[in-house]
Amino acid sequence: MNTQNGLPLDAYISPQFFALEQQHIFSTTWAFAGLVEDLNVEGDYLTVQAGLNNILVIKGKSEQLLAFHNMCRHKGTRLRDGKGKASNKLVCPYHDWTYDLEGKLLSLPKASREFPALDKSCYGLKKANVGIWRGMIWVHPDPNSQSIEQWFSPIAPYLGPHKVETLIEPEDSIIIEDIEANWKVVVENYIDHYHLAHLHVGTLNMYDHKRAEFGFIGPHFRFWEPLTKEYQQDIKQNSPYPLIYDTKIEKLGTWVPMLFPGIGLAESESSWSVFQIVPVAVDRSKVIIRTKMKNGSALEFMKQSIRSASYWNKKVKAKDSGYDDKHGLGSANFLQEDIYVCEQLQKSFSSPFFEFGPSAEYGECPVREHKKLVWECIKPHWR
Ligand SMILES: [Fe+2]
Repeated sequence: MNTQNGLPLDAYISPQFFALEQQHIFSTTWAFAGLVEDLNVEGDYLTVQAGLNNILVIKGKSEQLLAFHNMCRHKGTRLRDGKGKASNKLVCPYHDWTYDLEGKLLSLPKASREFPALDKSCYGLKKANVGIWRGMIWVHPDPNSQSIEQWFSPIAPYLGPHKVETLIEPEDSIIIEDIEANWKVVVENYIDHYHLAHLHVGTLNMYDHKRAEFGFIGPHFRFWEPLTKEYQQDIKQNSPYPLIYDTKIEKLGTWVPMLFPGIGLAESESSWSVFQIVPVAVDRSKVIIRTKMKNGSALEFMKQSIRSASYWNKKVKAKDSGYDDKHGLGSANFLQEDIYVCEQLQKSFSSPFFEFGPSAEYGECPVREHKKLVWECIKPHWR
């Protein structure tokens, strides 16, 4: 097996490898479920896939968040899908088995005739673990897993000064992208320092890539890079949106960590985003990006946009102006540039002539580390 670069090619093209990842990576780690403000009042719920498990998170009594495996204890039907409000009960649509918000089985129709000897106390919903960290809701399929604080404690000192809970998510700002590439291709692109000055020469040139600081801390990747001098010296003028942290802090710049497995954050001077990579199939991923900004007025945002327009008009350029703006390389948008190269790489994996080339000593070190991490999880189970 050629694992010269840390992983065999099968890791990107084999449905069996994908199934093992679902079982041994995504079912055994904390999964991003949403932002705390998604669940506001008692009965508000959301559902989220955590590897092979579908988890229902619900706001119970006294502001408490509870998480259950989203399965009726009768036949296993999912109780709810998507997100919404469940009043004070959870009723399975199939046979009306009914649970309270603590997951306790309350009633089942025709119980005395159909289930004369059933002990209802044995059929409560199966619990999962839930935690809040940095303004985000996280779930773990195992109710006895380590806490969310323990899981993220190694990376916590390497994140931005952002107070995520105080920021606001603008209406209709969620971005969802279907990407025809394996989830690891998307992660590897996210943590690849080498490509920043090349693919994004016209779109991320307000950061000083040469002075970036990055590396793995346990399973999580930390990344910070400073602003360029030119951008920074007039930051109040140049920032595209109102600033969200004190620009006098020592480490002015942007924090772009990748939390294992596949949750990126992008914490900048004027916005905060969570970049959720959802594996859909071995060659397909979905990326959901949620962004928060300063809690400011529309007027404040408009003024800042006008103030900074001349800087951005000068700075931002398409990678290849030979393409129109619908094309990734003509878009002058770093996300579209990334999606384009991820899909172009995935296409090459099916070529009989494909082989992994040399990996950059410094800038691609994180890519090799990530492959190693994944291989350690899957190797014991791989044929
Ligand atoms: Fe990129």
